[in-house]
This record gives sequence, C-alpha cells and structure tokens, in this order.
Amino acid sequence: MTIKETVAHSSEEVQQLRQEKTFQWRKQWYPVAVVEFLAPSRPHGIQLLGKELVLWRDGSGKWRCFEDFCPHRLAPLSEGRVESDGTLLCAYHAWRFDAEGNCVSIPQSQDKQAEVKHCSNPKSCAVAYPTEEHQGLIWVWAESGTQAKQESQLRKPRLIPELESSSDRVVKLFWNIRDLPCGWDFFMENVSDPAHVPVSHHGIMGSRYEDAKYYDMPRLRKISTQEGFSFAVTTTSETIAEAVHDFQPPCHMRIVTSYKEGAKN
Ligand code: FES
Repeated sequence: MTIKETVAHSSEEVQQLRQEKTFQWRKQWYPVAVVEFLAPSRPHGIQLLGKELVLWRDGSGKWRCFEDFCPHRLAPLSEGRVESDGTLLCAYHAWRFDAEGNCVSIPQSQDKQAEVKHCSNPKSCAVAYPTEEHQGLIWVWAESGTQAKQESQLRKPRLIPELESSSDRVVKLFWNIRDLPCGWDFFMENVSDPAHVPVSHHGIMGSRYEDAKYYDMPRLRKISTQEGFSFAVTTTSETIAEAVHDFQPPCHMRIVTSYKEGAKN
C-alpha cells in the first residue's frame, strides 16, 4: 500500500470485507484498569462488555479477575476482602477462593472432610477470567473457562510498541481516564474522525474558523476486520507535518502526530 491511497474503497473491496471472518469481541484482551490506581489490599469492581467483574491481587502479587458474584449466594465479591493468605474472602459467609477461583474454605462445613468435599464441587468455584499485566495496565480476556484460557495464550494484547522498544525515546506522561456517557462504537468513530478536532476543540487544538477545511486522508494499510485500519492526515498546518491514525480492534487507537521541526507525539 502506498501513502497516496485514499480511504475510499471499491465495491469489490466492500465485498471482500464482508467475506472476512466476523470479529469475535469476547475472544480478545481488554485493558480494564491502571495498576497504580488500584489499592492491592482490597477487591475492585469493574465492568467489561456488560459483565460485572472483580479485580483483586493474589498472594503472589498477580492481579486476578472473577465474575463479581460468589457461587454460594451471589454476593458481590468486590465487597469482599483480600486475606493475608492470598485468598479472596466473600463478605457474606466467608467462603474463600484462591487465585484460580477454586473454593478453598467453607467455614460452615461440619468437619474437614465435608469441607474438602464441598470445596471440590465445581459449583463452589468462582468464575475466573484470564488476566495479564502489561505496560501498567491490567488486561482481561473477555471469556472464562478452560478453552478461553488456551485461546487467550494464542493472542497478544494490543500493546503500545514504542513502550516496548528501548531504542525509541519515549516519555511517558500520565494516565487520563474518563467515563463517558456514550457507547464504544460512538467513541471510536469520534477519535477516528480528524475533521471534528479544530471545531470541537477550538482554542485547544486548532481554530474552528481557520482550520476547518479540506485535507487528505491517504490509507496506510488494507482495512481489515481483524486488524483495523490506518490512515494519515495531511494538513496545511504551519507546525504539523502529518498525523497517523491507527485503529486495531477491539479498542486500540493510536494517533501519532509528527511536527515539522522533528518531534512526535
Ligand atoms: S454468598 Fe459468598 S459465602 Fe455466602
């Protein structure tokens, strides 16, 4: 693909796109929390794709993710406690769960033998999701179960390559998190739409009176259901040479702006 190709595509390409496999939203890694924002001494409730989940750090220092209900009476585990033995304790009747979601303690059992039997029942387990930590973020695979565990190992989270490279000079600034009253698709379309920037962000990023005008959007790689799209925005700005937008599903949007004096952000 050359940088001169435009984002407009032919009817043949539309047909080809329709023939690609459907994107499987639940078989993906999602960044769900900034590690430094979470107190490791307690569990934290989150939401992912409409599910209530709980993050907690086990005895080995690894963050874990369970569905946010206890298998006993469905009390939210996010209201529970992280205990000194590295288990998550439900605050309702004190059942405990290990890092994998196995039930390891049911204090209401008649004796130790009964407790072992009750704990080994799969119905006593919490529902665990594959979880990894990369680049200061906790990533959760959006499916649970044995198959999900295997599938999650075959796919890597969409990391920021510059943060992995020691050769690039990268200055990490700060995390900025906002809860927005809109859906995922609406937000992703917004951040993929460079035309709104000088208008909606007037006075901060351009001028609605001077910068709302024609610009080119050459495509940088083939549009793909699985891999997303990338395009450059060529402007007539006095300071900006080019901005490259790169979307990789499910939720990775990079915008790299190159300035005429050589800097990038
Ligand atoms: S609801 Fe969790 S231990 Fe009973």
